[in-house]
Amino acid sequence: YEEQKDSLKTRPPVVTVMGHVDHGKTTLLDNIRNTKVAEGEEGGITQSIGAYQLEYNDKKITFIDTPGHEAFTEMRARGAQATDIVVLIIAADDGVMPQTIEAYNHAKDAKVPVIVAINKIDKPNANVELTKQQMVAKLNLIPEDWGGDTITVPISAISKEGIDELLEMISLVSEMEEIKCKPNGQARAVIIESKLDKFLGPVATVIVKDGILKTGDYFIAGSTYGKVRRMIDDQGRTIKKALPSTPVQVLGFNEVADTHSILYVTNSLNQAREISGKKKEKEDLANQNINKKHVKL
Ligand code: GTP
Ligand code: NA
Ligand code: MG
Repeated sequence: YEEQKDSLKTRPPVVTVMGHVDHGKTTLLDNIRNTKVAEGEEGGITQSIGAYQLEYNDKKITFIDTPGHEAFTEMRARGAQATDIVVLIIAADDGVMPQTIEAYNHAKDAKVPVIVAINKIDKPNANVELTKQQMVAKLNLIPEDWGGDTITVPISAISKEGIDELLEMISLVSEMEEIKCKPNGQARAVIIESKLDKFLGPVATVIVKDGILKTGDYFIAGSTYGKVRRMIDDQGRTIKKALPSTPVQVLGFNEVADTHSILYVTNSLNQAREISGKKKEKEDLANQNINKKHVKL
């Protein structure tokens, strides 16, 4: 009956930035957030999923940055599955490339709306018209200004031209999508990244989808379980509560979580253990020769 009392509310959109390697995903987010993540990346290549929240016109937006290198297909798929909207970046000096097509296919599989950002328009060899032609020919996406229904915004992540318009479009699409959540109650969160940290133990980056995740909560996630020992936000601060659409690192898993799993808060540790035990038994039967403890990239 709690459920019925707890009417749905709007939550901030989760927006995943996808596209071919080096088309400017991280640089775009750096410029929106005023950070310098791209500069610190080894070989200039993003190798894991990052999640950040920011405010635009007093409205929160959660961004997921994904790698564009061809090796990271699984992460791109995961990024698309966890999101409400995909921003597909295409560099105007390079055009539609293999991972552009792959990323778009993940967005289609996830059935989420796609906004195209044609990036690097500051470059002398940028060709927005040709890029749009390729969108039509290779992705079957027709830009709005060509009579289609794909919102297409030319931008430069370096000069910042077009970025306000892109953020406007993200706000517009998220309003149309009516992105809702249960604002209170026990949390449900998607796991977008997980790893074994040398010092902290198993850590997962999650995005809360419903309810409020709190320090001390017991949870189950796939075949793993635990108690939220500590939560760290995207600024590195320890927080005690994470509201819907907030990305947060969670400490307190019994082992490295499955990146495809959903975290559900339970009433007790025993309940979490029991459910995860039953799930594990089932899974073990289903995939007897897959090592479930395999640590993903
Ligand atoms: P991966 O995550 O490795 O796939 O790359 P990415 O898409 O995040 O691209 P990244 O932000 O690492 O940028 C790649 C290179 O393009 C860097 O040298 C950026 O400075 C440059 N770059 C990104 N956006 C622009 C832009 O709008 N204009 C120009 N001139 N250069 C850009
Ligand atoms: Na890069
Ligand atoms: Mg990157």
